[in-house]
Amino acid sequence: MLNPITVQLPRKKAYSYPIYIGTELLSKMQTHLPKHNSTLVIITDDTVKELYAIALQQFLNKAGHKTLLLSFSAGESSKNGQTKNVLEEAMLAQACDRNSLILAVGGGVVGDLAGFIAATYMRGIDYIQVPTTLLAMLDSSVGGKTSIDTAQGKNLIGAFWQPKAVIADILCLKTLSQEHLVNGLIEAFKMFLTSDAKSLKFLDQNLDRILARDEALLSEVVRRAVSIKAEVVAQDEKDHNLRAILNLGHTIGHALEQLSDYTLLHGYAVALGLLLEAKIAQNRGYLEAQQYYYIKTVLQRLNITAVGLKKFDIEAVIQKTKLDKKKQDGAVQYVLLNGLGSVYVAENQFTHSVDDEMLRNAFSDVVKE
Ligand SMILES: NC(=O)c1ccc[n+]([C@@H]2O[C@H](COP(=O)([O-])OP(=O)(O)OC[C@H]3O[C@@H](n4cnc5c(N)ncnc54)[C@H](O)[C@@H]3O)[C@@H](O)[C@H]2O)c1
Repeated sequence: MLNPITVQLPRKKAYSYPIYIGTELLSKMQTHLPKHNSTLVIITDDTVKELYAIALQQFLNKAGHKTLLLSFSAGESSKNGQTKNVLEEAMLAQACDRNSLILAVGGGVVGDLAGFIAATYMRGIDYIQVPTTLLAMLDSSVGGKTSIDTAQGKNLIGAFWQPKAVIADILCLKTLSQEHLVNGLIEAFKMFLTSDAKSLKFLDQNLDRILARDEALLSEVVRRAVSIKAEVVAQDEKDHNLRAILNLGHTIGHALEQLSDYTLLHGYAVALGLLLEAKIAQNRGYLEAQQYYYIKTVLQRLNITAVGLKKFDIEAVIQKTKLDKKKQDGAVQYVLLNGLGSVYVAENQFTHSVDDEMLRNAFSDVVKE
């Protein structure tokens, strides 16, 4: 295992935390755990429980820890107040106190939900993210955004609550479906597009072996993406300005995700968003035609093409983007590329208004190609 990446939060040194990326980290978990905790509460979903969490509990019990294993049905539909309540009641029934430590073992659903429980249980306890999907390893486990969904929308209730550490065991990716592997790779592609031309080249050149799950290359993808996220979070923990760059592809992506009733996986929706938003950047003169073509080609290699967009009615997409949380003075805000590895910045702002006509034109250009 290489040295951990550290998220340096300027607020207070104590809020900074390490991100360990490597193999066989689950079996060596006790080496990364603080000594003082009373109960280790492993929160997971039913799938990951069988695959990894039961074994993890056994390792920890053998090392002399008191543990409690709690799980819920896998999937986004569990990320709600009801599941949160059930898990909290179980922790209270087992007399988990303020020194308990939560281990969030699973994908982004587990991480967001268990992180939010940590943020509110007895007014806040420690937790460690143990991501098991690629998306969770390189994105959702880092940065301290925790949340649940409500009938009104995704991630509407939550808190910023940073973990004490992130422990990403690349071996867990062996059992992940190909669809979820690509789902995570799209977020890595997005991060590299915003700020790292070298990593973009690395991803592009090694894509076939990454898709075939070469462990060393997957570790490198996670390491590179996490380094970007850690840097962005360190500079803008509470999402006031720079952190917005992580929303590249998301303004449209979120709209498509909702219009598909969440049958389209988040990453795939973001990928179609990336394509359209890159076209908007090209039409505004920020991105060259060949740079747009490069983005299109990489997505094609992930089997994502404009055919996926044709299922959507652009007027419905426009209406949905208007519900975006990040509107400013009534105008929908977009992150726009101005090159491969950099975003357009004007007056120190990373997001920009895009009117309906621009979105309509970009859509019509992309589906015609
Ligand atoms: N907090 C953040 O900053 C942030 C950022 C991005 C996304 N998110 C959230 O993350 C969630 C999506 O995360 P996700 O894509 O990881 O979904 P997920 O947690 O639902 O996991 C996807 C599926 O993979 C299964 N799984 C997990 N690990 C596995 C493994 N190693 N092998 C086999 N199967 C495994 C899970 O049981 C689940 O069925 C969304 O709720 C989204 O809002 C949060």
